[in-house]
Amino acid sequence: MKRLERAYNIADLRLMARRRLPRPIFDYIDGGADDEVTLARNMSAFSRYELVPDVLVDVSRIRTETRMFGQPAAWPLMLSPTGLNRMFHGDAELAVARAAARHGLPYGLSTLGTTRLEDLAKAFGGPKIFQIYIFKDRGLTAEFVARCKAAGFHGLALTVDTPVAGNRERDRVNGLAVPPRLTLRSMLSYARHPGWSIPALSAARFDFANVSHRVDALADGPMSLFDYIGGQFDRTLTWRDVEWLAAEWGGPLSIKGVMTPQDAKHAIAAGATGVMISNHGGRQLDGAPAPIDQVAPIREALGDGPDVICDGGIRRGSDVVKALALGATGCSIGRPYLFGLAAGGEAGVDRALTLLREEFDRTMVLAGIADIGEIQPRHIRGISRG
Ligand SMILES: Cc1cc2nc3c(=O)[nH]c(=O)nc-3n(C[C@H](O)[C@H](O)[C@H](O)COP(=O)(O)O)c2cc1C
Repeated sequence: MKRLERAYNIADLRLMARRRLPRPIFDYIDGGADDEVTLARNMSAFSRYELVPDVLVDVSRIRTETRMFGQPAAWPLMLSPTGLNRMFHGDAELAVARAAARHGLPYGLSTLGTTRLEDLAKAFGGPKIFQIYIFKDRGLTAEFVARCKAAGFHGLALTVDTPVAGNRERDRVNGLAVPPRLTLRSMLSYARHPGWSIPALSAARFDFANVSHRVDALADGPMSLFDYIGGQFDRTLTWRDVEWLAAEWGGPLSIKGVMTPQDAKHAIAAGATGVMISNHGGRQLDGAPAPIDQVAPIREALGDGPDVICDGGIRRGSDVVKALALGATGCSIGRPYLFGLAAGGEAGVDRALTLLREEFDRTMVLAGIADIGEIQPRHIRGISRG
């Protein structure tokens, strides 16, 4: 598709998504909590690291394959779980998963996705991770575990940074609800994007496909996204609940939202096989540190074995090389592929993954690193915050 080829980086895809989507929907993807300080820092923190290259190394072939959640990845990247993909493009999660499969990357499906996990599993042959919550309704969580086993999911990512919904002020200003509510303020923006609005505004198309059979309130009609999520979050959760989930599942389990070495150790002691260092893409605790800055201390605390995935802020393939040099197993992305999805469906996700892959490969070659196993701490240097 010619139009997508004019996107030369993730920032270009973001601009295309902004043009294509009504403002409230774009803001739902793009925005963060409170003053969006963490959202901005997740990205800018990468620029405080220098890549220190070797020269005159044979980089005619580079080896990039790795494993995350015990599954193969063509290079050290995976697609983070994101909810409500049907709001961004009609082909929703299936489009994302198909593009991930083409690129040989693991795909994460959100509990709050708009595609049933069984349907996703049928359509997607690659490594698949299900993002789970320990809901107040533990029976629903246990049911998810059983369904994931039956459908052949390879790993679980337990999201733990949502004891309460973050304060996304852009969404509040825009009156974002599921399905979109036509506030006076947002009406104009929807009207200006008829190509998106007419198919998307039909209520039937919006469904938390994995949970709606259990959430009685949803059957009665649309409800606020915030009411729904707020009602299911459980503030009593502790590491004991992680032990319960790890035993129930018995497979690769990563705790998504860990930010400190101590909690990373708790996660492994509780039965997890890895951690996803994440602040939910700056959508929860504003003021939280950038994931990239926590990679080295967390790797040091955990030693070589467990998966350490740096989640959030990655906008260039070189960011992934930096995360590996600091000790990460790999990285995961949310918005970069969602911008692609909104800009052009499956082809747009494909474009996002192609751009990042090309950038990653080029960075490896320019840094004189022929094999991801040879990336060393000496390849990276932190610049003081000044
Ligand atoms: C629109 C959107 C929806 C998201 N939905 C979920 C979700 O349902 N569950 C979850 O654990 N994380 C969710 N996340 C967070 C992502 O999994 C990931 O942590 C984050 O996007 C990483 O930051 P990045 O966007 O800078 O790559 C969502 C993020 C976005 C942007």
